[in-house]
Amino acid sequence: MSRKPLRSQAWFGGDSKDAIMHRSWMKNQGMTADAFDGRPVIGICNTWSELTPCNAHLRELADRVKRGVLEAGGFPVEFPVMSLGESNLRPTAMLYRNLASMDVEESIRGNPIDGVVLLVGCDKTTPSLVMGAASCDLPTIVLSGGPMLNGRVRGEVVGSGTAIWRFSDEVKAGRMTVAEFKGAEAGMARSAGSCMTMGTASTMASMVEALGIALPENAAIPAVDARRATLAQLTGRRIVGMVREDLRLSAILTPAAFRNAIRVNAAIGGSTNAVLHLIAIAGRIGVPLGLDDWDQSGRGIPTIVDLQPSGRFLMEEFYYAGGLPVVMKALAETARLDGDALTVTGQTLWENVQYAENFAPDVIRSFADALTQEGGIAVLRGNLAPDGAVLKPSAATPALMQHRGRAVVFDTIDDYKRRIFDPDLDVDPDSIMVLRNCGPRGYPGMAEVGNMGLPPKLLAKGVTDMVRISDARMSGTAYGTVVLHIAPEAAAGGPLALVKEGDMIELDVPGRRLVLGVSERELALRHAEWTPREAATSGYQSLYVKHVLQADRGADFDFLIGRRGAAVPANSH
Ligand code: FES
Repeated sequence: MSRKPLRSQAWFGGDSKDAIMHRSWMKNQGMTADAFDGRPVIGICNTWSELTPCNAHLRELADRVKRGVLEAGGFPVEFPVMSLGESNLRPTAMLYRNLASMDVEESIRGNPIDGVVLLVGCDKTTPSLVMGAASCDLPTIVLSGGPMLNGRVRGEVVGSGTAIWRFSDEVKAGRMTVAEFKGAEAGMARSAGSCMTMGTASTMASMVEALGIALPENAAIPAVDARRATLAQLTGRRIVGMVREDLRLSAILTPAAFRNAIRVNAAIGGSTNAVLHLIAIAGRIGVPLGLDDWDQSGRGIPTIVDLQPSGRFLMEEFYYAGGLPVVMKALAETARLDGDALTVTGQTLWENVQYAENFAPDVIRSFADALTQEGGIAVLRGNLAPDGAVLKPSAATPALMQHRGRAVVFDTIDDYKRRIFDPDLDVDPDSIMVLRNCGPRGYPGMAEVGNMGLPPKLLAKGVTDMVRISDARMSGTAYGTVVLHIAPEAAAGGPLALVKEGDMIELDVPGRRLVLGVSERELALRHAEWTPREAATSGYQSLYVKHVLQADRGADFDFLIGRRGAAVPANSH
């Protein structure tokens, strides 16, 4: 156990003018003298915001965390950081993930904090806070806000995000009225919490549990279940112990932890967004992680969690079935997980999950009866994606996994929106829809538009899936045979920029290939004629496009990679 003085004592300890000043101002909140007597100061980093509906309940959870911190002899201090709400924030919350991570990193480093609780929920709030905290590397624990209760619409149980895509397609195909669609609004999101499908929020809540940086059961307890409040209190207690043990993120976020998380992502049918976020988190803590790690570690791991968008159920059923500990136990028992990985409990992953029980084998299935045998993220390469692209086999149509088709090219998302309703659009079910200029630099921010809706004229004929390829991302609640994250992106001069209407494209998921049927010579000619699009020259967007890395590097900023630690010089009042 570490006996070195706590970091916060550099602010609050002793009788110097500075120490008296630091304590004096804090006492304007009515704090007692013993708050500064050398007990661990725990920062509760809160993404509460009424503009981030999925995180709107986090102030109540913060109170529970504080209760736990106080019980364990710590001093809790709550502070706000930039909150990224997926549903409201434009042009895309991903544009601000790195910005929020800078807010988190500097807020932690610059303040008298010994340990941190990260309160997260909506998609980008989890990676942005973990990235910022990883750069500081203090004792840190994550608490997710938990998923919403199941959606209920017209007698049907529906998933918050997944249903939007389906209903929208139904309206386009004339099978649902706009009034019925509007009527679904309140029923799709009917309680506090984040999307209750295995979308990006639930995936990232699972990832932090799988990485070992959140307490067991963090991923699935519904936001409004009393056990979420209990977990918050236990999280508050535990972070005080972690400070006393000097148990830092870098001791937990090891290469083995990332491999475990990749395998868990395959088993739960998690979001493709996790690829970007885990690579970015690994970059901050100093663990080399790339696209090939995703393919190698996740390959051959079956998806056993039968949740939307890949399967049938929702997070509520997942929790009642036993949640993520059941999945991790099943993986560890079959040597698919490293059970020796250390976690925030101070115990190994195996010690955490060994007593887990599966109460619903139809929700968490066996490996023999898996939802799909190929659950990992497929990483594709070829002359169309020299630095890689990803596809989620569990959300794709098996018959389209090997497919050749004629390119129908949309230059931007606005071009797509303009032309997709055109009855004369030259497209058939075998065509491959290509969308570009939606990557990190091109959009900018890498929008979740890769699963572009099918042409209404084909939907009306009953077509339910087509191959779609882009440099964009896809919402974790979406589905389809969709190739995403093509790197380098079109705006960076990648070959995607050179595709012309009618070019043949070959997708071969088993062979991990994505090939444009155009000669190298012709591509060189096209490249010579290609001119980059204008990029923002002022404001945050200009900083973003100048420094954002490509998708295969996690779309982090080049200058943020790495662990900078928590050391900070004393100020000079
Ligand atoms: Fe926040 Fe889905 S919109 S989790």
